[in-house]
Amino acid sequence: MTAKKPLVIVTRKLPDVIETRMRELFDTELNIEDAPLGAEALAEAMGRADVLVPTVTDRIDQKILARAGDQLRLIANFGTGVDHIDVATARQRGITVTNTPGVLTEDTADMTMALILAVPRRLAEGVRRVQRGEWKGWSPTWMLGNRIKGKRLGIIGMGRIGQAVAERARAFGLQIHYHNRHRVSEADEERLEATYWDSLDQMLARMDIISINCPHTPATYHLLSARRLALLQPKAFLVNTSRGEVIDENALTRLLVKGEIAGAGLDVFEHEPSVNPQLLKLDNVVLLPHMGSATIEGRQDMGDKVIINIKTFIDGHTPPDRVIPSML
Ligand code: 8YV
Repeated sequence: MTAKKPLVIVTRKLPDVIETRMRELFDTELNIEDAPLGAEALAEAMGRADVLVPTVTDRIDQKILARAGDQLRLIANFGTGVDHIDVATARQRGITVTNTPGVLTEDTADMTMALILAVPRRLAEGVRRVQRGEWKGWSPTWMLGNRIKGKRLGIIGMGRIGQAVAERARAFGLQIHYHNRHRVSEADEERLEATYWDSLDQMLARMDIISINCPHTPATYHLLSARRLALLQPKAFLVNTSRGEVIDENALTRLLVKGEIAGAGLDVFEHEPSVNPQLLKLDNVVLLPHMGSATIEGRQDMGDKVIINIKTFIDGHTPPDRVIPSML
């Protein structure tokens, strides 16, 4: 008799190759329609699944976890950020949580760099103007942006992605500054030619471009509060490819509307998929629909990681990407 395969419920449509492999390995329930599960459908899935594969669009809070069946042993998140999962409560209930770090570092850093270039050089505005038929021919003084080379980039969060952004930014001649919970090693600082700022406030006040690359945790919620955003210079640009909750989006919008900072490149928002309607009207912003890791290769790699985490867990080993509350 063959052993019963574990029931793995996947909450969103994943790349075909990943879904095929999951079906071979597990008793897999897929979401072919790709419609995000509502709270009730999610709770119902948690009541039946042995393993749940959620994404950033599933809010797995205390209330939902209370509906988990005793058979649910693993939440194998498709994604690195786990701020949508109450990891501490999951742990109390004996549910292991895993994520997919590393494989989306380069893609997310590329997107961050793209925004660092796009906003000061008015890329999206230029595209919009050509598409609207507003280009009347070349002009020596039209559509001037700001030079990138030589400017000061302040990276908030010098983990994997922050460092990958620094590597790219150096090649464009930016000066690298950073703020992080802990100072990185001397070797990394040397490699990245990065200057550490213990005081986030002081760094914010002196940078030309700020990039948010820290995770969203209780400690980083509204890290860029109205008070801190007001420290930015009027010539400063802000880029966020991390989580919208790290910035007070309304306060940022007010500054942008009043012209008190120069522009922003945002791939993430506080209440996704809602975007502050005032932001939509501005020319000095580049707004993207949370696509930092959205490459074909990246999403397959993320899926592979999910499968490896599930497989090792089921085989009785500690999965490679286990998230424990003290890591957050
Ligand atoms: C993912 C992300 O697309 O991994 C993350 O933390 O923000 C994104 O790149 C998303 O979270 C998938 O669940």
